Amino acid sequence: MFDRIAPRYDLLNRVLSLGRDASWRRRAVAAAGLGPGERALDVGAGTGDLALALAKAGPSGRVVALDLAPEMLGRARTRADASLRFVVGSAEALPFPDALFSCVVAGFAVRNFGDLPRALGDMRRVLVPGGRVVVLELSLPPNATLRAMHRFYLHRVAPAIATVLGSSAEAYRYLPASIEAFLDPERVAAALREAGFQRVRYERLTFGVATIHVGEA
Ligand SMILES: C[S@@+](CC[C@H](N)C(=O)[O-])C[C@H]1O[C@@H](n2cnc3c(N)ncnc32)[C@H](O)[C@@H]1O
Repeated sequence: MFDRIAPRYDLLNRVLSLGRDASWRRRAVAAAGLGPGERALDVGAGTGDLALALAKAGPSGRVVALDLAPEMLGRARTRADASLRFVVGSAEALPFPDALFSCVVAGFAVRNFGDLPRALGDMRRVLVPGGRVVVLELSLPPNATLRAMHRFYLHRVAPAIATVLGSSAEAYRYLPASIEAFLDPERVAAALREAGFQRVRYERLTFGVATIHVGEA
C-alpha cells in the first residue's frame, strides 16, 4: 500500500495535517538530540522527511533510513545528500549489530508494524545503553468533543481529499482505521517500557491528534 501511495504521500501529509506534521517532526528531531559523530536510525522512514530533518540538524551525525517499501525509500533517495544511508528492511528484524545507534526514531510508522513488541525490542537492541528512542505517532484527542470532530475529519474528509489530490481513497480509509485500532498513548508508553526502555514519557501534540514518546535504552 505504501509503495502505491508514495508519489502523493508528502503532499497528502502536508494537506491533511494542515502543515502541522512539519512542526511535529521538528519536535522529534529536538528530542532525538543527535550529537556530533553520533549515528541515528529512522525506522519506517518512508519518503525521508524525518531522516532528512535529523541529518540537517546534526551536520556531522550519520543517519540511516530504513523502510519496508522500496518506492517510499526511492523518493527519499531523490531528496537526500551523502549524509543519509538507505536500507530496505523490516522493523521487526533490523539488519544492524547491537548498540550501533545513539538514537532511533519512528515517525507515524509504529502503528503499521506487524509485530510491535518485536520491533520495539529490536529498536532497543540496536541502541547504545542510554541511547534515545523517539516515537511520533498519530492519536485521537482525549477531549470527547474534539475526538468526535477529529474522527469525522479522518473518516469522511481525509479519504475525499485524498481522492481529489490523486491518491488512493482506500489507503486514506486505512489511515483512520489504523489510528482507531492502535494503542492509546498510555499503552504505547507501556509497550515501550515492556520492550526495556526507561524514563519513558510522552506529550500530546495539537490537542492530541499526534503524540511524541521518548525513552532511553
Ligand atoms: C505513514 S508512513 C511514515 C513515513 C515517515 N516516517 C514519515 O514520517 O512520513 C509509514 C511507513 O512505515 C513503513 N513500514 C510499515 N511497516 C514497516 C515495517 N514492519 N518495517 C519497516 N517499515 C515499515 C511503511 O512502508 C511506510 O513507509
